[in-house]
Amino acid sequence: MAANYTEVFRDPTAVEKYAERTYAPGSFSSIVSSRQAGWLRGFVPHAYRMPPVHHDFACGTGRVARMLAGLVAVSHGYDTSEAMLRKARELGTPGYAHLVTPGYAMPVPDETRPRLVTAFRFALNVDLHLRDQMMDFASAALPDADAGLLLVENHGNASSVRHLRKTFGRLDSASWFQELSHEEMRELFDRHGFDLVGMQGFTLFTQGCYRRPWLWAAKTADSALCSPMSRWATDVVYVARRR
Ligand SMILES: C[S@@+](CC[C@H](N)C(=O)[O-])C[C@H]1O[C@@H](n2cnc3c(N)ncnc32)[C@H](O)[C@@H]1O
Repeated sequence: MAANYTEVFRDPTAVEKYAERTYAPGSFSSIVSSRQAGWLRGFVPHAYRMPPVHHDFACGTGRVARMLAGLVAVSHGYDTSEAMLRKARELGTPGYAHLVTPGYAMPVPDETRPRLVTAFRFALNVDLHLRDQMMDFASAALPDADAGLLLVENHGNASSVRHLRKTFGRLDSASWFQELSHEEMRELFDRHGFDLVGMQGFTLFTQGCYRRPWLWAAKTADSALCSPMSRWATDVVYVARRR
């Protein structure tokens, strides 16, 4: 885990790498991202009686707002990195981008509509203090059970094949390697007054399996199995509701 996590993403070089390399067309992350988009676009109209207001904590380049385009009344993205928000604008992200001070992100109030809070690709690599910032934000946006839903991505589920890398692989200091368990997430939700109400997996396999000659087999197996085997997926989105 980077001690200076927030600082890392303020660097335009890290932003370019995130947008152009991590999410390059055809990359492992963009394949997972397009599966997430497909699921979200089915889930949101089903879960809400009217298009909700979307609040995206640590929105970065606006990936989630673009997935939800047309399905929400409006998207508000909140992030501490001006460079990330600039990239989001460049990529044509719909809605509003809010540059925030760490720990001071506050959802734009709108009492007239249900709300959807998302926090993707954030919880895994941050410490408990930043996870608490994420949950404080979610609590402010979702004061009660009827206010809407919280969706949090964990892209390093501890009970997945990714764990083998920790057991047998070489972990160099240049690449972050964290794991986050369902129990840790459940405990975090519970401490902030949320119940875990669902879990959706997006890949059973890791980036390494998405290389030739295994690429085709990994993609095919994931398309069929990552949803029914969500609990063991490497990349998971939790659905939580305020108690
Ligand atoms: C890995 S990126 C994820 C971006 C986006 N959610 C996605 O899934 O593509 C993590 C983001 O968290 C933001 N961030 C870091 N510390 C933060 C904090 N304390 N509050 C809000 N955002 C923060 C970074 O600037 C960066 O944009």
